Amino acid sequence: MIRSVISGFGHAFPKRIVTNKELEETIDTNDAWIIQRTGIKQRYVAGEGETTASLGEEAGRKALDRAGITSDDLDFIIVATTTPDNTFPATAVDIQNRLGMTHGAAFDVQAVCSGFIFALTTADTYIKSGMAKNILVIGAETMSRLMDWEDRTTCVLFGDGSGAVVLSAHQGDGTTADRGILTTHLRSDGSHKEKLYVDGGPSSTQTVGHLRMQGRDVFKHAVGMITDVIEDAFEATSMTAEDVDWFIPHQANKRIIDASAKKLNIPPEKVVINVDQTGNTSAGSIPIALSQAAESGRLEKGQMILLEAMGGGFTWGSVFLRW
Ligand code: COA
Repeated sequence: MIRSVISGFGHAFPKRIVTNKELEETIDTNDAWIIQRTGIKQRYVAGEGETTASLGEEAGRKALDRAGITSDDLDFIIVATTTPDNTFPATAVDIQNRLGMTHGAAFDVQAVCSGFIFALTTADTYIKSGMAKNILVIGAETMSRLMDWEDRTTCVLFGDGSGAVVLSAHQGDGTTADRGILTTHLRSDGSHKEKLYVDGGPSSTQTVGHLRMQGRDVFKHAVGMITDVIEDAFEATSMTAEDVDWFIPHQANKRIIDASAKKLNIPPEKVVINVDQTGNTSAGSIPIALSQAAESGRLEKGQMILLEAMGGGFTWGSVFLRW
């Protein structure tokens, strides 16, 4: 059986860091409130010349270098983003061009904060079916450009950044001892649209719009949805929380992460957290956290890594893989 193994990883941030203290100067908020409610201390904010494609390109190049391949070896580029630089063409084809790739195909996936999980699952399906050998999967966002910077209930939560992985085809035995992605689970439910959405778009307002959120309602649903798709991953692999070496969740809010880990009986020392440094980078968040954990040497070959996300839509999903 063909398995998709992560053969390279990388991440990129804009240059500018905006601390909670800095936000105190422009909106009625304070460092202590933000830390207590979310765990966030700072976020990166894109400046002039920094775009979703430029961040995605930088993360993508690092992932290709680590995998020891070039864009010539790629079959697809899949970019998860909810902040494309243009409504069209897709950010993925811009990145394809920046990487000098003129063969294969590149396209975007839109599932907001769950985007990377959806993109990874799509890439895994191409690899397992034999249609592709190497796929660059990128989560890239400039969420700062979707913010209403006068709305303190949302603008303190989000940040910009990008993470990327190269998925490569490896022959496995078809058992859970194989390296690579062992199981993926995707869900969505459009009836929750009003709880987290952008109030604009080409066919509604002909504007980009701003992110709007009923934070309490999102919080209320998040833990249940996250733990549901993780239980699905455990059932599909006949594994339990005890088999998880690293839990790398979507970094929306430390309280949601803590509550999910507690409900699943995953101890805090196995949870990768960077939301304090990055804020919620939407589709960028999981690949950034994964790349940072791998770069720091924490992830060891053969370990079980659990990824999950939940976001606007609602969309939610999990990926369980052996490193
Ligand atoms: N600074 C200071 N006060 C703020 C504030 C800010 N940035 N934002 C909101 N407040 C105020 C509210 O106006 C409210 O004041 P009031 O009681 O006078 O009306 C008070 O703080 C409590 O607001 P509430 O929304 O009930 O707070 P909360 O405890 O639910 O925390 C969130 C708010 C957004 C942090 C929390 O609901 C949350 O994390 N939700 C999930 C969001 C998320 O992760 N979304 C992305 C999913 S991908």
